[in-house]
Amino acid sequence: MNSQSSSKNVLIIKSSPALEASVSNEITDFLVEQLKGKNQSYQFTIRDLAKTPAPIYDNQIMQAFFSPQDQLTEQQIKVAAPSLEYIEELKAADIIVFASPMHNFGITTLLKSYIDQICRMGLTFQYTEDGPEGFIKDKKALIITSAGGDFQQASEKHKDFQTPYLKHVLNFIGIEDIEVVPVQGVGFGEEAAKQAKSKAKQDLTRMAEQVL
Ligand SMILES: Cc1cc2nc3c(=O)[nH]c(=O)nc-3n(C[C@H](O)[C@H](O)[C@H](O)COP(=O)(O)O)c2cc1C
Repeated sequence: MNSQSSSKNVLIIKSSPALEASVSNEITDFLVEQLKGKNQSYQFTIRDLAKTPAPIYDNQIMQAFFSPQDQLTEQQIKVAAPSLEYIEELKAADIIVFASPMHNFGITTLLKSYIDQICRMGLTFQYTEDGPEGFIKDKKALIITSAGGDFQQASEKHKDFQTPYLKHVLNFIGIEDIEVVPVQGVGFGEEAAKQAKSKAKQDLTRMAEQVL
């Protein structure tokens, strides 16, 4: 099993259209540097969805996903290929880091398209008599959630559809060990942004030492 080998595979999913100006990317890159500085070996796979977006779930994709897989046309094999590649990456990972900006109270379009490609009945989950069962087991996930507002107080939490959604969908495909690192309130001015980033970096430094 991956987690028992001496090197850990870290899959990083970036999903900000802001690229180099992105807060979630900045904090994620900080984590990568922390891990690289450790006396342990990590292999990084970085999937930046802003640079190579996942395909949009359209009719072609739907046909390819739901046709008998041994009868796909060449075109359908091509259309379904990114989904299979993403799922293989997930299976090979020990740690999965989601850099997730809040857009319109949820996740970005870029991340939603990716999620639509990895939730595949028979490949990453199935329905059983006891309910859904996820196949992406024994992983640790870290969600870095950046937002202009701050949704950490009890009175604001209900407006955050990003964090509960991501936790739920990851649980659904079998990922149960999830840590969330918020970088929130970055829209409340320079000082607030600085503080939010600094707090997230502190949390990640501790996690890199203790749990990753
Ligand atoms: C299209 C768009 C929609 C946004 N929607 C929200 C929102 O609903 N709530 C919020 O608090 N911030 C919102 N923001 C602010 C972003 O969450 C904030 O800029 C954050 O830093 C984005 O992460 P990133 O820098 O990694 O892209 C939005 C930003 C954009 C560009």
